[in-house]
Formats: sequence, structure tokens, C-alpha cells
Amino acid sequence: MSQLIVRGGSRLGGEAGIQGAKNSVLPILAATLLTADQVELQGCPRLRDVDASIRILEGLGCTARWEGEDVLVVDTRGLGGCVVSEALMREMRSSAIFLGAILARCGRAELSYPGGCELGPRPIDLHLSGLRDLGAEIDDAGGVLHCRARRLQGREIVLSLPSVGATENLMLAACGAAGTTTIANAAREPEIVDLQDFLTACGARVSGAGTSTVSVEGGRPLHGCTYHVMPDRIVAATYLCAAASAGGEVFLRRAREEHLSTVTAVLREAGCSIFSDKKGIACASKGRLSAVRPVRTAPYPGFPTDAQAILMAALLRCRGAVVFEENMFENRYRHVDELARMGASIRVSGRAAVVTGVERLHGASVRCTDLRGGAALCVAALAAEGETEVSETGHIDRGYENIARDLRALGADILRTED
Ligand code: EPZ
Repeated sequence: MSQLIVRGGSRLGGEAGIQGAKNSVLPILAATLLTADQVELQGCPRLRDVDASIRILEGLGCTARWEGEDVLVVDTRGLGGCVVSEALMREMRSSAIFLGAILARCGRAELSYPGGCELGPRPIDLHLSGLRDLGAEIDDAGGVLHCRARRLQGREIVLSLPSVGATENLMLAACGAAGTTTIANAAREPEIVDLQDFLTACGARVSGAGTSTVSVEGGRPLHGCTYHVMPDRIVAATYLCAAASAGGEVFLRRAREEHLSTVTAVLREAGCSIFSDKKGIACASKGRLSAVRPVRTAPYPGFPTDAQAILMAALLRCRGAVVFEENMFENRYRHVDELARMGASIRVSGRAAVVTGVERLHGASVRCTDLRGGAALCVAALAAEGETEVSETGHIDRGYENIARDLRALGADILRTED
């Protein structure tokens, strides 16, 4: 197992490019199934979750090959199956996103129930009820989803909560449905807009992404395309928080502030100077941050749950105390105990966590508990005196192409070692 060794306590300084967005490229890879053609994805990040998605596509009879550093060419002309194995579903629970596209393309699909994950139960009831609204017959007994859709029929679907995955799954299924589908109370994340833009490039008629109502005019034959994936806003938030916490001046190429304005607003309140233009985001910090008003996670455009652990790590030495409220997932404070090993003072009670700023943090041996919790340990280690050993870094590799490379480009003393 590899480890990250971080020597903290020094200010950052430098420039890094932001990788393509994990949470955009995963639904886009599922969407390639809608076109019996070739698709070229530029700016595609090399991640464990992308590898898992490629294995799912190959298991269905498609091919995918890397061309150059960040271009992935997917060819779905050879699609011959409609089954996603249990092993692959367990490897990446967001594989449920493939259900709508497989149904739209093949008329049937078989996936095992995606388990929960480190964040707690990850239900897909909204995905299934929406697909049934479109005419799919789904037998979900025994842990395997047996789905049939002789003919998907567009109609209005109302989501009881703005689920990102359900919105994406239903957009893809609706492309294969006759007539028009509207998804009310849709999620509004930028990744949904990226999916709409990809589908449009393939010839689909999709509108409204980014608002609460998405419309799809289904039944149109789709073709391949060349598409550039949007930059990863959570990776950008991670590196902004790293600079905020350790102090220094960084520039993040391709980062788009309009995608993470709730995060930059909190960092400005904490005392950072942040400037952005179409080239990227610059952040300067003296390192000792001020306390900020309560941070409550919410669906976009609220504060992103994926940035909660990362911002918490940046505020561990703030002047004062900060209240966090995690409203999206049941089990998203698993990083707290690991941060405490570095000297952090955090009290958790239910959905709330109170961070009391400490004068200093010290290096320690810590263990990643999940993707963003692992990234948070790296952020905290940069502000800690001495050396921190971060283990179980496989979690981080699910969403960060090369966190050590990027943080080194920003001036951090961080190395990856292989056991
Ligand atoms: C996406 O997960 C992201 N993953 C998550 O990022 C992100 O945290 C989340 O959206 C919220 O922004 C990908 O895009 C691959 P949801 P998703 O459906 O689609 C409940 C990361 O770190 N819910 O919007 O699973 C659910 O339990 C990951 O990159 C139902 O009850 O999120 C949760 O409480 C972590 N029934 C809430 O909705 C359903 O059918 C939001 O979930 C679906 C969801």
C-alpha cells in the first residue's frame, strides 16, 4: 500500500493545473452508451473510478483506450451485453449511473444493488422510481436489479429531493424514451450542465440543466463527438484550502470560481485574498485564518458536502471556533478522529461538528477513511509542524489524479512512497 509523507509548516507558492472533474466524467462515460459510435473525451482524469467505469464499458462489449495523457477514446459499437457484475458495482457504488443508459440502449439491464459506502447508506430509490415512471419494469428482489423497458415513454418526473445521480440517470434514460421528459426538482450541480453539454454535442435535445427543471426530447439518434470535460471544482477547492491553511500564494489553472463560489466566499471571510478570471483562480493567505459563520452543506448552489472535510482541515488553526452542519450524508465526519491525532480540537454531535482553533498542529500517522476525508488529512498535514504519514491513500486516488504531484507544484513538501 502506498503512503503520502508530508512535511508541513512551510508556506506554499506555485501554480498547478486542475484535472477534469470526476463527478462529470463518470456520468459522461455512462452517456457514451447512448451513441453506437466513437467518443473522444479530452481532459479525462486518470482516476480509480474512471478505471472502474472503463471496466464496466468493456464488460458490456465496448472498448476504451487512452490517447496521450488525458484523452480517452470510447467506442460503444461493439456493445453486446447489459449486465454489470456485482464486483464492479461494489468497486464503485456510483455505477448505478449506468442503469439509465443501458436501459435506453438495450431495453434491459442487470446490475446488482450498489452497496453503501464509507459515507453511509447510498439509496437509489429515486433512480428506480423515476425509471419506473418512464415505463421500466424493475424487479429489485434479492439484491440484483432486473430491469426491462420494452419502450420508455417520456413524461413529467418529480424528484422528492434534488439527487445528482437520479437527475443524471433519468436524463440518460429520457434520451432513449419516446417524447419529452421533464425532471422537476432536478439537481443543479455544474456537472449536470456538463452532462447536458455532452449530450447536446452528441445530437440530443436537452435543456434546463443548472436549473430545477431539466427537459429532454427523447428518441433522437445520437452520434459520437469530441468533448472536453469541465475542471474538477472539488479538487480546486482542495488546493485553495491547502494554500489557505498553510499560507502562501497559489494559482490554479482552469479552475472556475463560478463553480465553487460558496467555498471561495468562506475562504474570503476567513481572510484569504482570492482573484479569478477565465484562466483560473489565485489565492493568497497569511496562514492563520479567522473563524467563519456556520458552514451548512446543501445541494448546489449551497456549500458542497464534498468540500466539508477539506474546509474543516483548513480551519483547524483558525482564531476562534467554527460550526459545521453536514446535511447530505449520515457518516461524513470519519476524518475527525484522524485530524484529532494531529492535535485538532473538534466536537461532533449528530450532524454538527464544532472546530475550536488551536495554536499549532503536529505531524502524526493518520489513515484515510474516505475520498475527501483523505484529502483533508493532506490539507491539515501541510499546516502541521513535522512529518505526517498518510496511509490507505487508495481512497484519495479515486478522485485525485496525483495529489502529491499537484501539491508539490504548489510548493508543498510531499512524497508518495510505495511499501
Ligand atoms: C453525487 O453523489 C456525487 N458523486 C457525490 O460526490 C456528492 O457528494 C453528491 O452527489 C452530492 O453532491 C458523483 O457524482 C459520482 P445524491 P450522489 O444522489 O449522486 C439521498 C465525491 O466525494 N438519495 O445527490 O450519490 C442520498 O442518500 C462523491 O466525489 C436518496 O435518498 O448524491 C444523499 O443523502 C461523494 N435516494 C442525498 O440524497 C436516491 O435515490 C444526495 O445524494 C438518491 C439519493
